Amino acid sequence: MPENITAQVEEQQALGGDYHLLRIAGPTIAAAARAGQFVMLGLGDPGEMLIRRPFSIARVIESAEGPVAFEILYKVVGRGTLAFSRLRPGAAMSVLGPLGRGFWLPAPEAPCRPILVAGGIGIAPFPLFVQQLGPAARHAEVIYGGRSAVDLPLAQWFEPRCGTLTLATEDGTEGLRGRITAPLEQALDRADEQEGSCVFACGPHPMLAAVARLCLERQIPCQLALEETMACGFGVCLGCVVPRRHPTDAFDRFARVCTEGPVFDAREIVL
Ligand SMILES: Cc1cc2nc3c(=O)[nH]c(=O)nc-3n(C[C@H](O)[C@H](O)[C@H](O)COP(=O)(O)OP(=O)(O)OC[C@H]3O[C@@H](n4cnc5c(N)ncnc54)[C@H](O)[C@@H]3O)c2cc1C
Ligand code: FES
Repeated sequence: MPENITAQVEEQQALGGDYHLLRIAGPTIAAAARAGQFVMLGLGDPGEMLIRRPFSIARVIESAEGPVAFEILYKVVGRGTLAFSRLRPGAAMSVLGPLGRGFWLPAPEAPCRPILVAGGIGIAPFPLFVQQLGPAARHAEVIYGGRSAVDLPLAQWFEPRCGTLTLATEDGTEGLRGRITAPLEQALDRADEQEGSCVFACGPHPMLAAVARLCLERQIPCQLALEETMACGFGVCLGCVVPRRHPTDAFDRFARVCTEGPVFDAREIVL
């Protein structure tokens, strides 16, 4: 059940470029969060920011007593995120969450080798995904791309926690030069037939469309986390819809990303 709370900022960390990590106190949200779910975040004073903004829950912070806080990784792109970047510990935020359908993790009885594919800020849901994979993360392959080296602020975090980390930048300043589709294609071609692979992707629409195409061609299970523009976050405004691939009738042509997603099976939607 989502909570609607006023919560305190515990920590704000600048990661270089326009990227920041914000830690927010919220034991109930942290305990309930599943990787791929999101929170709607606003400033403590709603007069300063009328509409809350959606952000993936990037990581859960635990103390000896259990989950106490959660973190979001964000990039400053406009008015709301600029205001967030000025918040200091103790500042109040308005938080609604956790919301939406997160990734469904591989079941122990149907194992698959997870391939995590992230473009830019699309890396945000994956630290929690790795936390929730537990020891299985050691077999995971992470393919993380961005425009430039500065757009890969979490590369160091994944390195010791996952089996393989492949970085790619469009300008060649870190890792392979180019987009993530080339290393993904190679990873899918190598896919271990006995164990199988499954892909989890988050990033801009064109990247997700390319990832979905590569996986659907090879019949490799693929989940996509979408980052549509959202106003309400709980299914009322219809500002976040995407077309379904196989609608059952005229009233069923679109899916609401905030409630039916943000994570979809690649076979469910058209990008
Ligand atoms: C489910 C979900 C999870 C998200 N998780 C994260 C996250 O973990 N970290 C993060 O940094 N961002 C995330 N986003 C995107 C984030 O919500 C927007 O960047 C944020 O709302 C921008 O607010 P702003 O007021 O700073 O910018 P605005 O002034 O509202 O917009 C600035 C610019 O960004 C564009 N923009 C705004 N929202 C989006 C969007 N959703 N997708 C693409 N372009 C957009 C606008 O068109 C405009 O050009 C997520 C979005 C969704 C739907
Ligand atoms: S954001 Fe309002 S319906 Fe999805």
